[in-house]
Amino acid sequence: MRNRKTFGAHSALALLSLAICHANAADTTTQEQLAAKELRADKAAEKTLAKMTQEEKLAYIGGIGGWDVKPLSQYGVPQIHGADGGAGIRYTSEGNDPGVVYPSGPNLAATFNPRRAIDFGRALGYDTASGGYQFVTGPGMNLYRMPWSGRAFEYLSGEDPFLGASLGPAVINGIQQRRVWAEAKHYAGNDQETNRFILNQVMPERVLREMTLPPFESATKNSTVAMMMCSFQKVNGEYACENKHLIADILKKEWGFKGLVQSDYNAVVHGLPAAQAGTDLDMMGGQMNSSVLKPYLDSGELDMATIDDKVRRILKNIYLYQFDKFAPLTTHNMNSATSNKVALNIAREGIVLLKNQGDVLPLDKNKVKRIAVVGDLAKYAPPTGFGSAHVDATRYISELSGLRQIAPGAQVEFLDTLSLDPTAMHWTTTDSKGNSVAGMKTEYFNNATWSGDPSATQIDTYVNLDWSSDKVPSNGDTANTSIRWSGQVTPTISGDQVFKVRADGAVRLWVNGEKVIDNGDGENITNKSIPPTIPVSGKIKLEAGKAYDVKLEYSRRDGYLSTMGGLVGVQMSTASLTAPSDLSQYDAVVVAVGNSAEYEGEGFDHSFDLPEYQNELIQNIAKANPNTVVTMHGGTALKMSDWIDQVPAALHAFYPGQNGGQALAEILFGKVNPSGKLPISIERNIEDNPLYKDFPNFDNTRTKVKEISYANDLTMLGYRGYDKTNTKPLFAFGHGLSYTQFTYNNISVTPGVAVGNTPIKVSFDLTNSGKRAGSEVAELYVGQQNPKVERAVKELKGYKKVFLQPGETRHVTIELNDRSLAYFDEASKQWVIDADTFNISLGAASDDIRLNAKLVNPFRQELSTTTSNPLPRSALNSVKVTLPAVKTGGVLDQAKDTDAANGNTDYDGNTEY
Ligand code: BGC
Repeated sequence: MRNRKTFGAHSALALLSLAICHANAADTTTQEQLAAKELRADKAAEKTLAKMTQEEKLAYIGGIGGWDVKPLSQYGVPQIHGADGGAGIRYTSEGNDPGVVYPSGPNLAATFNPRRAIDFGRALGYDTASGGYQFVTGPGMNLYRMPWSGRAFEYLSGEDPFLGASLGPAVINGIQQRRVWAEAKHYAGNDQETNRFILNQVMPERVLREMTLPPFESATKNSTVAMMMCSFQKVNGEYACENKHLIADILKKEWGFKGLVQSDYNAVVHGLPAAQAGTDLDMMGGQMNSSVLKPYLDSGELDMATIDDKVRRILKNIYLYQFDKFAPLTTHNMNSATSNKVALNIAREGIVLLKNQGDVLPLDKNKVKRIAVVGDLAKYAPPTGFGSAHVDATRYISELSGLRQIAPGAQVEFLDTLSLDPTAMHWTTTDSKGNSVAGMKTEYFNNATWSGDPSATQIDTYVNLDWSSDKVPSNGDTANTSIRWSGQVTPTISGDQVFKVRADGAVRLWVNGEKVIDNGDGENITNKSIPPTIPVSGKIKLEAGKAYDVKLEYSRRDGYLSTMGGLVGVQMSTASLTAPSDLSQYDAVVVAVGNSAEYEGEGFDHSFDLPEYQNELIQNIAKANPNTVVTMHGGTALKMSDWIDQVPAALHAFYPGQNGGQALAEILFGKVNPSGKLPISIERNIEDNPLYKDFPNFDNTRTKVKEISYANDLTMLGYRGYDKTNTKPLFAFGHGLSYTQFTYNNISVTPGVAVGNTPIKVSFDLTNSGKRAGSEVAELYVGQQNPKVERAVKELKGYKKVFLQPGETRHVTIELNDRSLAYFDEASKQWVIDADTFNISLGAASDDIRLNAKLVNPFRQELSTTTSNPLPRSALNSVKVTLPAVKTGGVLDQAKDTDAANGNTDYDGNTEY
């Protein structure tokens, strides 16, 4: 455990504050004051730099402790502590302490609401500061390409660069308003986990500029993000952290990035090219250090000015953010009312209603008196993904408890017979006296192969072993431990029965002598890069009332993780895949399915199929009860096509965070009118994904997939591909239902002829023509009529979320700018708008365009990569934090937070910003 007192070295902080002579600069708002503050930080950095020796500088550009910038105690500069911040702050210093678990990146993207993004940033900044940290390694902003992407749950861009460009800076501005450095990651192109340490992504320059980079460009230009994390994989043959084109040329020179580039954890493979490419901080310093770099300085191959620039950038940002203003560390509060409310509100707007046939939803409290809930995802903390973005919740509202709280008059029953909860199993075995007892006979062996006599034998009620906490009669030695469990199970429903085993090793399971599960040698799949513990399932037909022998053999293997959502241990469970005979008597069935940290996360890609035969389970339930509502979980699209036509209602909840259970219940019962829109397309079959032929298999073995082509991404990624091939996915990008209806009328475009960067206003009337108040996200797409280069049919270039009372009409304006029409011209290396006519399409989804208009660009225009902006004026305004800056010493003072004043429960749906 890291000693938090190191940061509490207030003498160092006091010195720091003297060094920058900050007098009242903390809450500057005007450009001049900001410039003055920057100047002071520059000067202070320069002064310290001048005092440092070459050795000190070379030592300084290597990180420490996994997340930190080293202290320069001799110059009064404290250690700067970082924390991971994917789904919330992971308190690594405290051994992965629990924190607030926010909805996942795709939930935030589904809100289509920069206001929720700002709230999230401010809350995350608060949590960071509250833990005594000075920066957070987030937000994650990479694009979603394929449904099997392991880290898609961390990223807020969905499948569209404009969405990321409009939400990323909002989060960053929120974080940095707390005087916490935000770190945009992963720069650039980390959109799959398959072989991430060796993968080469071959990306044409246009794909890089138009698809991959806009969220990062916008973060630089519209939120002056303090840090950027370069990623593990290669882009066009060079590791991202050694990629001069990405860092030195584009990020620093063209966009004018003033912050510091930090490598992902040990992502610098070669010190010299990384230093020359512009990586400023090598986390953990294995390459950018004196022993690697000094010889190059001595030979003249590396310039000292290059090293100075790195040190200067780090110091300048330290002085600029004035870390002396942090409150004492005793204020550690990882479950603040504000953070909880923010988590709740993102979930309320970030859960997408996909299907609602016959208005089965919202459920009517007066009619729905008995509800069956199926699926362990509904029973415990709302799930989240595995890896560095994983956070454990201290408090949460499960979906089951959310339903019980919102419908106190109804009987809400969790169906145990369909549950794969290892701690709720009914195994039986015989004890040494031959009596039948509850549990499984457990034999421990001090070898890997169940050889000879067991070293110990006992009866375990459940198979639920955790090596990191349980005391068991075994040495636990990963090379020399095997265990055999044997007992019986008596199903209560006839039909297919699923068995599930999650273990850090090799497992084989037999039912009445028939092998149902075998995972081979049980080695972890990712060559020891934060390996997940992925369960294996098998199924077998059983008869109700009959006792079946169950035997599980397990041999422990090395290298699994007990933290970040992993498991070192063994869990076994079984459940029926057939509906109980009385299921038709319930007024509704809510089935929670999808992924979790068990199946999805950092370091590996995952299947498109639902795990645990959940597709079969849904089909069986839907046959038994016509009011079946499916709630999907996961950071990606998953296969729905084999059951979606059989259920009347389905939602994608993604990972809705620790208050997701409340939000979901409010949506199911209509207390909150859903307004989330899909930030991704959901395909019927994986082969339908327009990019499928470019990435037909995921492979987590580090052997086969070494190169991925992005040649088709401009026109084939997500909705762009469905437009091009004139096909429809199951659910399109931008799709999301409401309990009311909206109509679009009277579109106008002013001016109808583009002139320089004069904002182009697209205006229309939006009417709530239904019976309930609700929010609509109006989506604005632009397409060029006769492009000379390859262009997508249409691209999202603006959106607005509008709250309307029933019958209310609002005149809404969404702005476009010059970049909304431009493509990147590889020859002139700038943005170009051809003289042409552009189609303006406005609608409720990418496949539901309601109004069309035209815009003419009479002359070819060329736009600079430095001054042009991916965000038009109105989108830019919506990422600005307009709340008063946090006062000196008030970083942790929630009374000054306007959100906190509003309490935690009420939500009027008025989400406009
Ligand atoms: C991840 C980063 C994370 C870092 C530190 C890496 O494996 O890619 O996103 O910030 O670990 O935990």
